[in-house]
Amino acid sequence: MSRKIIAAGNWKMNKTAKEAVEFVEALKGRVADADAEVVVGVPFVCLPGVVEAAKGSNIKVAAQNMHWEESGAFTGEVSGPMLSELGVDYVIIGHSERRQYFGETDETVNKKAHAAFKYGLKPIICVGESLTQREQGITAELVRYQVKIALLGLSAEQVKETVIAYEPIWAIGTGKTATNEQAEEVCGIIRVCVKELYGEDVAETVRIQYGGSVNAANAAQLFGMPNIDGGLVGGASLKLDDFEKIAKHNK
Ligand code: 13P
Repeated sequence: MSRKIIAAGNWKMNKTAKEAVEFVEALKGRVADADAEVVVGVPFVCLPGVVEAAKGSNIKVAAQNMHWEESGAFTGEVSGPMLSELGVDYVIIGHSERRQYFGETDETVNKKAHAAFKYGLKPIICVGESLTQREQGITAELVRYQVKIALLGLSAEQVKETVIAYEPIWAIGTGKTATNEQAEEVCGIIRVCVKELYGEDVAETVRIQYGGSVNAANAAQLFGMPNIDGGLVGGASLKLDDFEKIAKHNK
């Protein structure tokens, strides 16, 4: 079974709306022949311009968060219908920065995953352990727990459309990439977990990315591992040359 590699940029809180459009206009031609599915995860205010700029190209667009309710008294939040009306394809859910700084929990991740599907968005669900947790030897337990709660109540068809991003917190923004073997091991553990929950077919279909200091030099090897179906890329996705190379890792 061959899964399409997904090269997704998570811009985090970087680039203004104008800068974002300029970037995507320039990126379009560069990745037109990429075999990977190319996704840019941009700040909310950049979404309208980026969706417009990406039209007619092979670039898909992701939001970096959403609320699970359709509308209501949730100051500062953005809902699924607001994103889907714009033409957004994906939504990143449960990034460790949202868990760490904004009170995201496994339960809210699960609510958001349901909301994403309800409003026609595909979730990119992030999981991953801290350095302490890795040193305590609980990586597998923790990641399996995060995956199980995140997927709770989703149908097999929905899980097939879900992307799971394994992002060890100690590798994010540190320049300290997990080794190919470390990343492969945990992505494999996640796939086994999905198999236990949903069976072989779903487990072989769901895409599992690695994230954490992915760059132009290490992407090809990481994405070449059997259970790693691409990357969720932070810093290197902000640079045209680097992100182009990552999207075209196999060229
Ligand atoms: P870096 O690639 O900057 O380490 O960030 C990874 C990440 O958090 C992507 O979501």
